[in-house]
Amino acid sequence: MDPGFPPLRRTSPLFTRKPLEAFLAQAEEGHRLRRVLGPFQLTALGIGAVIGAGIFVATGAAARSVAGPALMLSYAVAGLTCVFAALCYAEFAAMVPVAGSAYAYAYATLGELFAWIIGWDLILEYGVASAAVATGWSAYAQDVLAQVGLPVPLLLGESPWRYDPALGQLVATGSLFNLPAVLAVAAVTAVLVRGIRESSFLNAAMVAIKLAAILFVIGVGAFFVVRTNWEPFAPFGWTGIRFFGHTVAGQVDAGGQPVGMLAGAAIIFFAYIGFDAVSTHAEEARNPQRDVPLGIVVSLAVCSVLYIAMVAVLTGMVRFDQLDVSAPVSLAFRMRGLGWAEGIIAAAGVAGISSVLLVMMLSGPRVFMAMARDGLLPREVFGAVHPRFRTPWRSTLVTGACVAVMAGLLPIDYLLHLTNIGTLLAFVIVCCAVLVMRRTHPAAHRPFRCPLVPLVPVLGILSCLLLMFSLPGSNWVRLGVWLVLGLAVYAFYGRHHSLLRQNAASR
Ligand code: ALA
Repeated sequence: MDPGFPPLRRTSPLFTRKPLEAFLAQAEEGHRLRRVLGPFQLTALGIGAVIGAGIFVATGAAARSVAGPALMLSYAVAGLTCVFAALCYAEFAAMVPVAGSAYAYAYATLGELFAWIIGWDLILEYGVASAAVATGWSAYAQDVLAQVGLPVPLLLGESPWRYDPALGQLVATGSLFNLPAVLAVAAVTAVLVRGIRESSFLNAAMVAIKLAAILFVIGVGAFFVVRTNWEPFAPFGWTGIRFFGHTVAGQVDAGGQPVGMLAGAAIIFFAYIGFDAVSTHAEEARNPQRDVPLGIVVSLAVCSVLYIAMVAVLTGMVRFDQLDVSAPVSLAFRMRGLGWAEGIIAAAGVAGISSVLLVMMLSGPRVFMAMARDGLLPREVFGAVHPRFRTPWRSTLVTGACVAVMAGLLPIDYLLHLTNIGTLLAFVIVCCAVLVMRRTHPAAHRPFRCPLVPLVPVLGILSCLLLMFSLPGSNWVRLGVWLVLGLAVYAFYGRHHSLLRQNAASR
C-alpha cells in the first residue's frame, strides 16, 4: 500500500478508494500506451484542445446577443475560473499520472462512487464537446467551400433542429443532417485508431497554423479598431445569474435566458475547455510529474492572453450587434474591406477547430479505458488496446459513432451549453477533491502543489458554481438526467463488476 494513500476508515464499499500503486502497476501491465509525449507535445495538445470553435464560432453570438464588447471581460472571468481549476488539476495530474484524468484522481481520493460520477460526467464533457466542435468545424468548412464555389446543399448542411431562444425550444431547419460534421468525425476517428504518434504530429502542425492566424488577426485587426465600437461597453449589463428559473441578478432575453457579462462568461467558458485534456495523457507522457502540470498551466496562460486580445480587436473592428454568428472572425475582416484576408482566416479556422476535435476525441476513449480497466464498464469493448497501434481502438470507434450521431443531428448551442455545465461540474469535484485530499492525506507525495490552498480550490468551486448558475436553467435538468442515467448503469453494471470490490471480497 502506498504510504501516502492509506485505506479510508469508511466501511461502505461505495467509498472504496483505489490505491495509487494499483493505478501505476496497471499502467505498466500488458499492452500499455506508449510514453512518447514530451513537454512541447503536451503543451501543444493543450493549445490544440483549447483554441477552436469557442473563439472562432461562439464569440459572435455571445458578443451579439449576450455580452456586447464586455465579452472581453467575460473571457477574463472564464479564464480566471479555469486557472483555479487548472492548478487543482495539475496537483492531481502529477500525483496520479495515469490515463483517466479526474476520474482516476477521484478514485484514488474520494472513492468509487465519486469516481463513477466524475467518469460518467467526463464522458458527457468529451463526447458532447466533440460533437459541438464538429458542428463549428462544419460551419467554417462550409464557408471555405462556398468561397471556392462548392457550396454544401442546405439539405445536408446543418442539424434538422435549431434552438430558438425566443421560443425557448428546438425548431425545424429544413435540413436532414449535418454531413460535413459527420465526415469530420469519421476522419478524426480513423486517425485516432491509427495511433498517438501520428495524431500528436498532426496536432502540432495544426496548432502552429491557428496560432499564426490568431496573431495575424490581432496584429492586423488592431489597426482597424474604432474605439466608439466599444460603446456601450456592457449593453446587456454585468451579470446574468438565474437560480432554478428565478433571476438573481441581471437581465434575461426574450426566451428567458440570462444575458450580461457573467452570462457571456458561462457561454464562452467553452472556449477554454480542453486544457484538462492534457491530464488524460499523463500515461503517454515521458516525464508526467514535471511535464503534465507545465503543459496545463502554459497552454491555459497562452490561450487566455490571445482570447482577450482577439475579442478586443473583433469588437473594436465591428460593432457587436453586427458580428456574424457562424464565422465571426473571417467575416469581420470582410466587413472592414479586408476581403483578401477572409479566406486565409477561414482556412486557418478549419485547421484550428480540427485540432480541437482531434484532442477532444482522443481524450474521451481514454476515460472509457480507465473505467473499463477497473471493471466499471465492459473491458472487452472499452478496455481493449490495439496490439499493433497501441490505441484504445474499440472505445475510439464507439465514441466516434456516438459523436457522429450527435454532430449530425443536434445544433451547436444546445451541445455547447450541455458541455459547459458538465465540465464545470467536473471542475467543482476536482477542486473539492484537492481540499479533501490535503486534509485526509497531508503527507502524500505531491510533485506539484496547488498554491494558496484552501483559497484557490475554494475560489475554483465558487467561480464554477457562479458560471453554472449563469447558464440557461434547462441545462441543469439535462445534467441531472445524464447523472441519474449514469447512476443506473453503475447500480446495474459497474457495482457488480468493480475489480476493486471483487478483490476486496476475495481477501
Ligand atoms: N475549447 C474548445 C473550443 O473552443 C472546446 O473549441
